[in-house]
Amino acid sequence: MLSFTLNGAAVTLDLPEDVALLHALRGPLGLSGPRFGCGTEQCGACMVLVEGEPRCACTLPAAAIAGKAVVTVEGLGTPEAPHPLQAACLAEQAGQCGYCLSGILVSAAALLARDPRPGEAAIRAALDPHLCRCGSHNRILRAVARAAREMA
Ligand code: FES
Ligand code: FES
Repeated sequence: MLSFTLNGAAVTLDLPEDVALLHALRGPLGLSGPRFGCGTEQCGACMVLVEGEPRCACTLPAAAIAGKAVVTVEGLGTPEAPHPLQAACLAEQAGQCGYCLSGILVSAAALLARDPRPGEAAIRAALDPHLCRCGSHNRILRAVARAAREMA
């Protein structure tokens, strides 16, 4: 049995050995935010926060997060009360298909937690592990900067 905290709620589930966290999240835990892109830590679509740090859930064994706190994009905000990053993405229309955004949003949230006033270089560095096939990079950078201003 594996127990951990998911978006603030305690969860316990029985999993096969060596299952990746991403498959646990999208399977038995029923989340659709963390996404499968490459499966090899090359795209960032699966990114979640583990103890506040961005981690690729596609390769992270679920067993490794026993007793830890995991946050996915679902844990950042809701449609009624979005995280400033989520609101800023809407305001900047940052994204086309949106496939990349779940991972980008959690990495950006970790950045703003450790550096509330990041410069463009810091934003670019934090989002470097993420690919956006739609080419929305400039709008995404603007959205993160906008969220930082609005959270200041
Ligand atoms: S699916 Fe995990 S990095 Fe691409
Ligand atoms: S908005 Fe489509 S992959 Fe980024």
